[in-house]
Amino acid sequence: MSKVTLNSPAQEITGKAVVDSEYEKEVARMYDGKQEDFNLLLGKDTKLVHHHFGIGDFDRSPGALRDEDEIQRRLHELENAQTERLLDLLAGLGPEHRVFDGGSGRGGTAFMAHERLGCSVDGATISQYQREFAERSARERGCAAEVRFHFMNMLRTGLGTASMDAALTNETTMYVADLTALFREFARIVKPGGRYVFATWAIDESGSAGETIAAIDRHYACTMHTREAYLRALLDSGFVPYHVAQMDVDALPYWELRQRSEHSDTIEKLFIDGYHASSIAYLMVAAERVGG
Ligand SMILES: C[S@@+](CC[C@H](N)C(=O)[O-])C[C@H]1O[C@@H](n2cnc3c(N)ncnc32)[C@H](O)[C@@H]1O
Repeated sequence: MSKVTLNSPAQEITGKAVVDSEYEKEVARMYDGKQEDFNLLLGKDTKLVHHHFGIGDFDRSPGALRDEDEIQRRLHELENAQTERLLDLLAGLGPEHRVFDGGSGRGGTAFMAHERLGCSVDGATISQYQREFAERSARERGCAAEVRFHFMNMLRTGLGTASMDAALTNETTMYVADLTALFREFARIVKPGGRYVFATWAIDESGSAGETIAAIDRHYACTMHTREAYLRALLDSGFVPYHVAQMDVDALPYWELRQRSEHSDTIEKLFIDGYHASSIAYLMVAAERVGG
């Protein structure tokens, strides 16, 4: 297996620091500050720490899931189930393959990808804290040689052209204003015939988005995009989508369960309202890198 090389530091190519714009600084600060948080609590047993939502339902029978520990356990199962669904889209990859994880958080998705598929993974985050946390976890899991984390901007990775068999992003693309610029960078680093798969919450153009979307953007300091913007940006960047699943029905229960937790706040209701009004769409997409 060849080694991933940072051919030339991204900064030299682009003249930009890893964290450059005021917006990137705000996002990096936010994730640097999320340390003793709910996500850490959810991952305490498996040591898989995620920063994404869940897929699947929970036991709604009277009396079930009233205890905080049970609620947290189920929420974590739903987080892991979400990742398994995303990794289904990478079926066929093996130990000889390399995957880029854009916006790798505290490493949960990268570890699951490696442990399920055997592939090596390079994760990029603009949070120094997250990079250090994920590197420490990789050492503890005994996979630090195969699963590496970088303080790196996914918009300008500095990774070699066609150096990756696949790229994935798990709920990170809403932190980039220009999707076409992001997907062009992925098209550069993914080999022709390779894949880009992602999970995201998006704006459903058929709904009355308005205030709910604005409130979610404020809460997470993100910039949600429409479904159409995703598909257009893929096509404009050299990717052809061949699997587009809208999974709102599977995404809603996580929020309903999280509302029962003693750690719930105002965000749960926003997502629940958004799904009920068809303002939000939960998407999982797989696209093929076409051309040379
Ligand atoms: C919602 S979290 C998702 C983390 C992870 N994918 C997961 O599923 O747990 C968003 C992540 O995107 C990262 N991020 C945001 N903008 C980025 C950028 N331009 N380049 C690299 N990472 C970025 C953040 O640092 C954070 O790790």
